[in-house]
Formats: sequence, C-alpha cells, structure tokens
Amino acid sequence: MAAHNKIDTLSHERIETSNTLMIVLIVLVVAIGGLVEIVPLFFQRSTTEAAPGLKPYTALQLAGRDVYLREGCYNCHSQMIRPFRAETLRYGPYSQAGEFVYDHPFQWGSKRTGPDLHRVGGRYSDEWHRVHLINPRDVVPESNMPAYPWLEKNKVDGSVMSAHMKALRTVGVPYADSDLAGAAEAVKDKTELEALIAYLQVLGTAVK
Ligand code: HEC
Repeated sequence: MAAHNKIDTLSHERIETSNTLMIVLIVLVVAIGGLVEIVPLFFQRSTTEAAPGLKPYTALQLAGRDVYLREGCYNCHSQMIRPFRAETLRYGPYSQAGEFVYDHPFQWGSKRTGPDLHRVGGRYSDEWHRVHLINPRDVVPESNMPAYPWLEKNKVDGSVMSAHMKALRTVGVPYADSDLAGAAEAVKDKTELEALIAYLQVLGTAVK
C-alpha cells in the first residue's frame, strides 16, 4: 500500500486533500467538456447559416427590438420553442438555429412567466398589440403583464439607427449601404410602440 502511494502521485487522496489541485482539475475537465460541445456549433451549417426566407430586421423592427431589450420583456418571455409536442401544439413549429443568425444577442431565454413569443408574428393584429401593450388587462382580463403606456408617447431615436446597423454588419448581418443610409428616415416620427409592434409581427415568420 505504501509503495503504491509513492508511485501514484495523482491519487484520489492527493487530489481530494488539495483545494488548488482539485480546482485546477475541475476547471480543466469542464473546459474540455464545454469545448467539445460548443466548438462544433461554430462550424455546422445548420447553426450558422440563415434559414431560407430569413431577412435582417428593418430599421423599424430593429428599433422595436431595442425597446424589447430595454423594457426587459425577456424577463418573462422566451423566444425558443422546443421540439416537444406540448410546445409545438401551443406555439407552432419548433425554433431552428438558422432563424436566429441575425439576432445579436439572441433572445432565447428560458423564463416563461408569459408565453413564448418566437412565433407570435402575425398571430394578432397590430391593433390588438397596441391595446395589449398600453394595458394588457383591456384584452386579457387575468393578465399580470405590466402596462407600457409610455411607448405610445416616446419617439424612436433615428440618429443611432445607422450606427447600430453598421455594428451589426460587422458581425455578419448583411445590410446594404442603402439600408444604413435610409435608416433614420425609415424610423422618422415613429413611436416606440409602432417599432415594438413591427418587431413582434416579424418574429418567427421566416419559417412557415
Ligand atoms: C412580468 C412578466 C411580463 C413582462 C415583463 C412582459 N410580459 Fe408579456 N405577457 C406576460 C403574461 C403573463 C402574458 C399572458 C397574458 C397576456 O396575454 O397578457 C403575456 C403576454 C404577452 C403577449 C401575447 C402572447 C400570446 O401569444 O398571446 C405578447 C405579445 C407580450 N406579452 C409581449 C410583451 C412585450 C413586448 C413585453 C415588453 C415590453 C412584455 N410582454 C413584458 C408577462 C409579461
């Protein structure tokens, strides 16, 4: 037994009685496990190529997406329909990786105080969304979603849109120069409410 311990320098006893060694080895194991799972995703076509029919957000939709982030809608809503029957029956076709390649950052999430929104595009009229966002209780009496009445009064800040789209272009979103040039004009005089509705109405519509 004594001879065995001398040879086996990385014995269980040695590792489990040394905090440092234990931490270093755990980090190493987790890092390798993570890399093996994550790295291939960067090279798989199905996760890096846009789904057929997917278009970059227009300036107005993008402005609406910014409102979605600012207001923290993701705290209660996921945008990721999992491939289970219970989900596809309720929300529609399950989400595919290629539908999110222009989302930086994506809004998948897992917290569902409210329903998943990935395929909410086209499910309701613009008018329904308008009433619902200003006061959810007006259309869904039992709703505990907060009201967002200020969105109707705030105007979209068009001056930042071009720079925003340029930044997205550097990470691979295929905006043309004309998209950037026309961005401020496209959101001129639009309210944040109109922008947010434009964003909601396009969600999940690339795949039908
Ligand atoms: C505190 C949690 C909470 C937050 C924050 C929240 N929601 Fe909701 N949302 C809900 C709940 C609960 C429902 C279901 C009841 C209803 O329709 O109002 C819902 C429903 C919805 C629906 C209808 C979905 C459907 O399929 O019927 C939309 C669209 C929606 N929310 C958009 C938003 C947007 C946009 C924001 C951010 C501006 C937001 N929500 C913020 C809880 C939340």
